[in-house]
Amino acid sequence: MHITNDVRYVGVNDHEIDLFEGLYPVERGVAYNSYVILDEKVAVMDAVDAHFGGDWLSNIRLVLDGRAPDFLIVHHMEPDHSASIALFMNAFPDAIIVSSAKSFPMMKAFFGTDFPGRQMSVKEGDLLCLGKHTLRFIAAPMVHWPEVIMTYDQTDKTLYSADAFGKFGALDIDEPWADEAGRYYFGIVGKYGLQVQSVLKKVAELIIQTICPLHGPVLKGDALWEALQLYRIWSSYQSESKGVLIAHASVYGNTRAAAEQLADGLRRDGVEVVVHDLNRCDMSQAMSDAFRYDRMVLCAATYNADVFPPMRTFLSWLSERGYRGHKVGLVENGSWAPMAGKVMRSTLEGCKEIELLSPMVSIRSALNDESKAQLNALRQELEK
Ligand code: FEO
Repeated sequence: MHITNDVRYVGVNDHEIDLFEGLYPVERGVAYNSYVILDEKVAVMDAVDAHFGGDWLSNIRLVLDGRAPDFLIVHHMEPDHSASIALFMNAFPDAIIVSSAKSFPMMKAFFGTDFPGRQMSVKEGDLLCLGKHTLRFIAAPMVHWPEVIMTYDQTDKTLYSADAFGKFGALDIDEPWADEAGRYYFGIVGKYGLQVQSVLKKVAELIIQTICPLHGPVLKGDALWEALQLYRIWSSYQSESKGVLIAHASVYGNTRAAAEQLADGLRRDGVEVVVHDLNRCDMSQAMSDAFRYDRMVLCAATYNADVFPPMRTFLSWLSERGYRGHKVGLVENGSWAPMAGKVMRSTLEGCKEIELLSPMVSIRSALNDESKAQLNALRQELEK
């Protein structure tokens, strides 16, 4: 695949994987992207997951047609990109690794060697001339590991953006960018919004015609500008859409019935609503929707004098990723000593800029006239 006149795609699609990072369901697979810049000197941009090292080397050899690569540029040391580095270094014994100073101790830790004598350590603003192409390195610490760098090809005006702007889904799957890029961003990078903002400021000074991320499609034109715009929204914790996420964790269905009743009422009034059953859904999708919509309602049963475990898990997903700046309503259920509301509130009080809506709905076993009135009042608050 030609990316520009001198750049070829040599990455791989992984349809064998079920959980990315062992955590995120990826039914449509994932791509580990790698690119080759063909110039007087040849640079390979990033490696791939261990299971695909042989395929990747074959792709590189096909593109190089007998030439040997001069550089392997390593933007990120997470094993989905780094695990085949040693394979590459054995296959191409004259190649030099170009990476940040923080990457080499990680190589030592992963591979038992940091390839002494074959290192080129680069930092913010350093240049590497390949001939026609001059590469400029950009530090991107904590997007989302500390060693991360990006590369700007000044000749092609291409940004090699590491994990930023990536998405789940293999490249032979045709689907819109934003949904799976959002699930990827909030799950994996979302905790580091400030660091993403800092990189976006640096990138804003560049003329960029192409973004080559480590996952998902190469971005150009309108798709590139949509991605930049969404990253500005996501990294500043603004809501992308008006609407309500309702997430419920129900034991026998009574809490779920309240959630569905609330959803029906909101929809009747023209509000966009998404409902997730936390006992069964993909937590990463629910979490992504929680960030995306400006309002959220959590509905949970009490369990062991605490909140029902799927809701506790969901709260962890949110708080660990810096959930903030939303309006939140609470619906608790408890047959004799309801505790779910107290637990949910106390977790959310640890998140920044959360507006807790009144009233909190408190159900005793099943909806009755009193709790229905509370639910109605909460719906009205959500619609203000
Ligand atoms: Fe795609 Fe953070 O590795």
